[in-house]
Amino acid sequence: MNWKRKDLIAIYDLDAEEIKYILDTAEEFKKVSGRRIKKVPALRGKTVVNLFIEPSTRTRTSFELAEQRLSADIINISASASSISKGETLLDTAKNIEALQVDLIVMRHWAVGSHYFLAKRLKCGVINAGDGAHEHPTQALLDMFTIREKKGRIKGLNVTIIGDILHSRVARSNIWGLIKLGAKVTIGGPATFIPREFESIGVRVCDNLKDALEGADVINLLRIQHERQRAAFFPSIGEYASIFGLNDETMKYVKPDAMIMHPGPINRGVELDSKIADGRQSVILEQVTNGLAVRMAVLYLVSGAA
Ligand code: CP
Repeated sequence: MNWKRKDLIAIYDLDAEEIKYILDTAEEFKKVSGRRIKKVPALRGKTVVNLFIEPSTRTRTSFELAEQRLSADIINISASASSISKGETLLDTAKNIEALQVDLIVMRHWAVGSHYFLAKRLKCGVINAGDGAHEHPTQALLDMFTIREKKGRIKGLNVTIIGDILHSRVARSNIWGLIKLGAKVTIGGPATFIPREFESIGVRVCDNLKDALEGADVINLLRIQHERQRAAFFPSIGEYASIFGLNDETMKYVKPDAMIMHPGPINRGVELDSKIADGRQSVILEQVTNGLAVRMAVLYLVSGAA
């Protein structure tokens, strides 16, 4: 495939071939991290700015390490340490970054659509590291990579996503990607957290945990995203945990070979118990490992180095 995109903003924009191409490229980059010298010169001479306007542990560290492993020059900017905190607009900040001959901006921002806004106005590439409740494309790519690696395929698998779907960019990106690659997707959680619009693209909707878990090959649990909620969507955390949490009691509905995933950060004892998060069926830390390879692939393709 001849990769043509200068930006990666949403899984919604990609076709199945593009998604598979990123996953195949990531497979090659995963080998780099297993070598004695974990570095390749693919992005030597390129400059990447990581602009994080919202907090992040995994995504930011993973992008930074991926850029280092590709030999890029890197600048990290956070909201509190930038002139955005003095009232400068996002566009002015980005234009000033671009004026320094930067090749790529990796951005996390709370504003939905902020990446499309910048990508239209900048010559440099823009990669979405999460925009509000819209999309988190590299998280979905690393989730799909992990499913394909562990299960050998995505097409035809039953994948259940449980939790705060309404406020989750991870859920949105996963749903688009998994449907494009032929998985059968179920979303579950309290009815107030379940947007019905996904039914029209073939997603099964469940407001009962038992029904959502039974037959699932992959279970992806999400945290309650309090920072994006503008109303009370359920009575209490304790009640949510007792009805929708994965624990010893509700694990009886889970197939013994089902894979348990979580994008992190985990709220232990709420969406899943520690014993399960750290247990035999969990691939949570493997997701993090795979995130590095996936982000190396995305940086490599979008930078035009391919
Ligand atoms: N999964 C994820 O996006 O985690 P961070 O918020 O720590 O980057």
